[in-house]
Amino acid sequence: MLTVRAPATSANLGSGFDVFGLALSAPADVVRVEKAPETTIEVTGAGSQYIPTDPAKNTAGVVAQELDAPARIHIDKGVRPASGLGSSAASAAGAAVALNALYDRGHSDEELVRAAAEGEAVVSGAAHADNVAPAIVGGFTIARADGITSVDASLPLVVCLPDIVVSTRDAREVVPETVAMDDVVETVGSAATLAVGMSRDDPSLVGRGLQESVVTPARAELVRGYDEAKQAALDAGATGVTISGAGPGVLAVCRRPDDRRRVAAAMVSGFDEAGVDARAYQTAV
Ligand code: HSE
Repeated sequence: MLTVRAPATSANLGSGFDVFGLALSAPADVVRVEKAPETTIEVTGAGSQYIPTDPAKNTAGVVAQELDAPARIHIDKGVRPASGLGSSAASAAGAAVALNALYDRGHSDEELVRAAAEGEAVVSGAAHADNVAPAIVGGFTIARADGITSVDASLPLVVCLPDIVVSTRDAREVVPETVAMDDVVETVGSAATLAVGMSRDDPSLVGRGLQESVVTPARAELVRGYDEAKQAALDAGATGVTISGAGPGVLAVCRRPDDRRRVAAAMVSGFDEAGVDARAYQTAV
């Protein structure tokens, strides 16, 4: 029997849609695996009642199939599903790392990211790696078809989870199919600023690098209270705010660890102003 901790992640970071990701210090899933003739899945913890236990429909089950590593898999969810914090990715990544070790397969991180991304495809319809890459590699990751680049960043963050449900599928449907050149120019500038900021642990650059005007505004329509929570976080000193992954979670970058308490409280009251209950996590990359 083998146990791994699989972290929550925040994908996109505004300007890096389907490319950028961050591993968060909390919350996390705990994935336990044991060799078995056939794969079975048991799920407990946050939102477990919404997670399929059929191995063909569960991200961890698909990973076991991809790695040809049948196991009894127990997932204790710390990462609530449909939160924008890479819940399905945490289970997929945890299963990939745990099964690789259990069967002593010696797969590289890149191979494990590919297997875990197949698990993601079951949930979202697309095998994107922007959540599974940071969950497996850690830090800040840039996931592209030609491989993963990572930086071991360190920044204080707040993630605020409003009590509303946005499915990844719905959130992908509102993404515009075409983009104006002005928007491309803005996004490239932001993405480059953000990547440099991550390599310098610079919260100002990272905050500025979250800015983009294509995907986030379209998705903000699905997150009631987003504008209020964003403004409240900025007023409380956050350097930048964006939707975490496909939402509805909202990510704020803070200058100092001590700022997180104030920013977290401000975001919760921002959602409250819009009539939405929310809870905030003080976290970090
Ligand atoms: N990049 C993905 C999206 C992450 O935003 O749709 C969601 O899991």
